[in-house]
Amino acid sequence: MYAFSLLSDLVPLSDTPSTHYPLLYSGLLRGDNYGYFLQTGPREVIAVDAPEGRVMLEILAHKRWTLSALLLTHTHHDHVVHLEELLQKTGCAFYHPQGAEVPGGGRSLKDEEAFRVNGLRVQALETSGHSDLDFSYWFPDLNLCFCGDTLFASGCGRMFAGPPDRFWASLQRLRNLPDATRICCGHDYLADNLRFVRQTLPGLPELLAGEQKASMPLSLAEQKACNPFLLADDPRVASALGFNEADAVGVFKKLRELRNQL
Ligand SMILES: [Fe+2]
Repeated sequence: MYAFSLLSDLVPLSDTPSTHYPLLYSGLLRGDNYGYFLQTGPREVIAVDAPEGRVMLEILAHKRWTLSALLLTHTHHDHVVHLEELLQKTGCAFYHPQGAEVPGGGRSLKDEEAFRVNGLRVQALETSGHSDLDFSYWFPDLNLCFCGDTLFASGCGRMFAGPPDRFWASLQRLRNLPDATRICCGHDYLADNLRFVRQTLPGLPELLAGEQKASMPLSLAEQKACNPFLLADDPRVASALGFNEADAVGVFKKLRELRNQL
């Protein structure tokens, strides 16, 4: 039986004491992959990605939750583990980027498409570059955004697809969300990312002043201030790497190459 104590970090998203829901559950379900459930009522939850579909089924059964909907950020194998089985057994609504190769059915979403899940407003934002087709899901009324593998704590996803200008544009899209936004990422790579910042940008200790823990959700405001991949157009980062500050794409590309070598 799955020890659901791994599912931790209960975060009330409402500051209004009379409003108990929604609640966010996050936990590392498969090594460093984050799993998420957003509980919208006594029994209803929404999930983002399927890092371990069978474990998610066990959690649903154990908690006596009904999975209303699953939002898919991208189709990398570690985000769709036993996804088909999870969809079949729960019969949940399935939202995914239009053009993604996914099990049949579900609802294809276009970039910027707005929809509602369990009464909550959601907007799909294309944030590709990590893979060929990445979506983030922004819940504007909750100040919450699930960004898959596009953005991590003090880092960003590997550039499997690119090109760099597309990935940089995706990061800028996330950066343009309101400061109050809290971010839920697909992996925990914080320790390596902080080591990278220390080694690569030793003259910018202020970039290490932000969150030093990987627990989700992250403060986007802090990431805007300390995540070097969101600061590729910052003169401090550009000059530390020997670039002209106008060449944000070049800075981003260099940062990503250096991070690959860590
Ligand atoms: Fe991925």
